Amino acid sequence: MSDQRNFFVGGNWKMNGSKASIDGILQFLNEAKIPANTDVVCGPPTAYLSYVKERIQAGVQVSAQNCYKVAKGAFTGETSPAMLKDLRIGWVILGHSERRHVFGESDELIGEKVKHALDEGVKVIACVGETLGERESGLTEEVVFKQTKAIASNVSDWSSVVIAYEPVWAIGTGKTATPEQAQEVHLRLRAWLSDNVSPSVAASTRIIYGGSVNAKNCQDLATKPDVDGFLVGGASLKPDFITIINAKG
Ligand code: 13P
Repeated sequence: MSDQRNFFVGGNWKMNGSKASIDGILQFLNEAKIPANTDVVCGPPTAYLSYVKERIQAGVQVSAQNCYKVAKGAFTGETSPAMLKDLRIGWVILGHSERRHVFGESDELIGEKVKHALDEGVKVIACVGETLGERESGLTEEVVFKQTKAIASNVSDWSSVVIAYEPVWAIGTGKTATPEQAQEVHLRLRAWLSDNVSPSVAASTRIIYGGSVNAKNCQDLATKPDVDGFLVGGASLKPDFITIINAKG
């Protein structure tokens, strides 16, 4: 990781939690000392955004897991960035593989959501990543570049964007990318940003890794120069998350 880029650790709680279990998460999060060189963001389900925001320590920011592409209207079940701002939620995860593969979100829709969130002043954790079949067919680079292009062409302010590389085959499977595999894709993504956006954006944008990150593998992954942090699923619900926050320490 370069000095230009603060380490970034996000917790994606996915569709997990109850007030009782969240009280437990808040307890270990609120007791934690957040390292000065690390940004920490946690992403509860929409239903609990306010509950968490009102109880979490100031050192941990809060993210939504999704939002829609317009400010308001007849879109049953959706949440707008304007509503997130109203709740003082500063971040949103967009393009997560579960949104792409379970809910059929296209590159185009994800791009529109990225644009609208940024226009509204909500920062974006934008996710990209290939499936196992795509990796085995040698298509990793093609897939992540195509997904990144659909995001990048909608970004007005790169200081409000973190890119999460989450290989689909590593998500929730216990099969983590090796530090070398993560570094290889992160390096290529950074080169893509340099060629297609600008060298300064490439140098300053955090590219974080997600997919079965845990308290045991986080330190090795964090040694890689282009791994600027993590997006953590399952382990973000447990005290292990505090170890991951300190992976760079
Ligand atoms: P796991 O850490 O549970 O593999 O999930 C990763 C993820 O999807 C984070 O967004």
